[in-house]
Amino acid sequence: MTGPILFCGDPHGTFHHIIGAAGHIKASAVVLLGDMEPERPLHIELAPLLERRLPVWFIHGNHDADSDELWMRVWGSELADRNVHGRVVELPDGRRLAGLGGVFREAVWYPTASAARGGAPAFRTRREHAKSTPRQDRWSGAGTHRRHWGSIYPEDVDGLADLQADILVTHEAPGYHPHGFELLDTLAQSMGVGVTVHGHQHDRLDSSARWKSQGFKSFGVGLRGITAIDVDGNAEVIVVGELDAARESREQSFNVVGDVDL
Ligand SMILES: [Fe+2]
Repeated sequence: MTGPILFCGDPHGTFHHIIGAAGHIKASAVVLLGDMEPERPLHIELAPLLERRLPVWFIHGNHDADSDELWMRVWGSELADRNVHGRVVELPDGRRLAGLGGVFREAVWYPTASAARGGAPAFRTRREHAKSTPRQDRWSGAGTHRRHWGSIYPEDVDGLADLQADILVTHEAPGYHPHGFELLDTLAQSMGVGVTVHGHQHDRLDSSARWKSQGFKSFGVGLRGITAIDVDGNAEVIVVGELDAARESREQSFNVVGDVDL
């Protein structure tokens, strides 16, 4: 397959535009950037793509763990094994795709100097967190609280840092973004990726001035937006994000958070 690979910004329960765009431009794969929040199990929502045997990959967002029902529709769906969080898969064009789902939270790890504990993690691993979680708050009586399936742990980043890839998709934004994280720049650099793509912030800010110094191209995909990125790292907006225009005009005095999660 040689069609474009589509990177889809936070769907938040809407998928028809993805199904329509993938068919219209004969996409060769679809990558969802988290916060799917499907109203039905993910494999049902994306059934038309699967019937066409289109490869679908995703990372989870913070909101995908907001309720037991949402958790089941994502991690419990027949597409659960297409979650690329913490690993590398091969796309139809041969590029290696890596993923980091979820968000940084102070209860686990918020890697900025001004954060609690000076940015040091409260827990390095899910297992460590589960041990200190009261039994009644443990997911299925064993793991951390369900909500923290949508949190990033140091073990997630450490595991990826040892891998090599061509593209890194994250839910959180890297350092170029006003609400992004320099730590993700370091991760992208250690993985040798040429391109990063993120969701969560519901915008598509121009970061090209930083590409040379950071060593990779970075792209945001807006709310229910779709961007195709070719093998040379050239991006083409297929569907404009619903808030892209409003967010772009605020870029100079950026004071909004795309997806509030505290
Ligand atoms: Fe999000």
